[in-house]
Amino acid sequence: MPYIEKFILPPPANQLTLFGYLIILVYLLHIAFISVFLGSSLLSVIYNILDKRKPNRLYARFSEDLLGTDIYNVTLGVILGILPLVTLTILYSLILYGSGLRIDTFFILGIFHVGVGLALLYRYQRTFAVRGTQFWSHIGAGIGGLLFLLAAYFILISATSLIMDFEKRSFIRSPDPYSLLFSWNVIARYKIFLLASVALTGGVVLFYAFRWSEAREDIDEDYRHFLKTVAAGVPLPCIMLLPVLIVWSLITLPSVALSPAVFVLAALTIVVLMMIFYILYSILGHDIRPRVTLQKDETLFQSRLVFHDKSKLVAPVLILFFVVFSLFSINDQIMIGNAMRDHSLVLVAKAEAVRKAESAKREEAQAEIVQVSAKAGEDIFNLRCTACHQYGEKLVGPPFNTVLPKYKPNPEQLAAFIQSPQKINPEYPPMPNYGLNKLESTAVASYVLERLDTERAQ
Ligand code: HEC
Repeated sequence: MPYIEKFILPPPANQLTLFGYLIILVYLLHIAFISVFLGSSLLSVIYNILDKRKPNRLYARFSEDLLGTDIYNVTLGVILGILPLVTLTILYSLILYGSGLRIDTFFILGIFHVGVGLALLYRYQRTFAVRGTQFWSHIGAGIGGLLFLLAAYFILISATSLIMDFEKRSFIRSPDPYSLLFSWNVIARYKIFLLASVALTGGVVLFYAFRWSEAREDIDEDYRHFLKTVAAGVPLPCIMLLPVLIVWSLITLPSVALSPAVFVLAALTIVVLMMIFYILYSILGHDIRPRVTLQKDETLFQSRLVFHDKSKLVAPVLILFFVVFSLFSINDQIMIGNAMRDHSLVLVAKAEAVRKAESAKREEAQAEIVQVSAKAGEDIFNLRCTACHQYGEKLVGPPFNTVLPKYKPNPEQLAAFIQSPQKINPEYPPMPNYGLNKLESTAVASYVLERLDTERAQ
């Protein structure tokens, strides 16, 4: 933070609100992506190991299929895995400006772990083909990647919990980021993250399961059944546990972070989770069948309808998951907002003070410019004008005492005349153009007008 504060100003109130919305959005995109990534990798590694211990065609197949989804695209990993975290680091630093909380240290450490984790898991995915011969280096990359990701989110979740926990703040000024603070709230939030990741992954697998069933010929009855059981079955216990953990996380939340909205959103989250549970449960009781083969058979017409129905439920499941993650993201931001309420007030006041100091500085600079230009005006006058003009006496040009008073109300007009003189009085020859620029003519105009008063007073 200290080095970041050197480059930034405290944000004003309207920007703080904007940052809040931005954080919700960035956080949501990132969490949704990383959850599916983590969940798929976790399931893939688990089934991979299960297959190694006791070879099972379905496990090996599933482990590989999990890695075949669009989520393992490196560009996507950078855009949704790394960049949002960098953005969040900056946004949180702005919001926490001047609070003394070293949140950036945690985030940078977190980003590092996420980077290594993603890289190892890409390696795991890419070495699946040589799994037969180089199993240990393959599975090692997978497990290593998972450990890095798990560590990363423990760090990141600790960091956000920290923002919500003012009482602990005074203890954490020490820059040792590994002395991560143990708190029940962090544990609860961490478990929510893990369970939600696995549950969401189930939903995504279900989506692919239906897609594969229709598009791929190599899906047999056994595998179809297996896919459905895992995809709909694994999320169920997770979803059952989530409400308990959500309540736990609220109980362990420092009271500064609480507000009625927090409870309402938490209740809403639980309701949506129950809806997902119900849908997944009903999918679990039915078979996933490819439409194509069934259409031929008149007697299976009924089951075709059933299948059709259930596949239609996949989109709502994913949408509801998206709602759940949005609610998590919004609620976190509300909690942080609550915890930061006092700090925000200080911040807004500070922003005001800094802006005042800035404008004072600007006024000072302006006064200096005026002084400089007064001096410049005098110099130009002495150098360029005195040969032909005096105040009280007629030289080549008319005496200033007679011609200047009419310019008193609008010095700009005088400046314009000096910059490009026009023929005015037939008794005089035309005044030559000295090629002064706008600044110079303005300076000399204001100088000669200023001096008019003192000259006339004498
Ligand atoms: C070479 C001689 C000469 C110099 C040098 C000169 N002027 Fe003049 N100036 C004149 C003459 C001649 C007139 C009368 C022109 C006319 O009435 O058409 C005049 C007219 C003016 C007038 C009167 C305009 C009006 O509305 O009647 C002002 C003001 C003036 N000069 C300002 C300046 C200033 C300021 C400078 C120095 C940057 C300057 N002059 C330099 C010759 C000069």
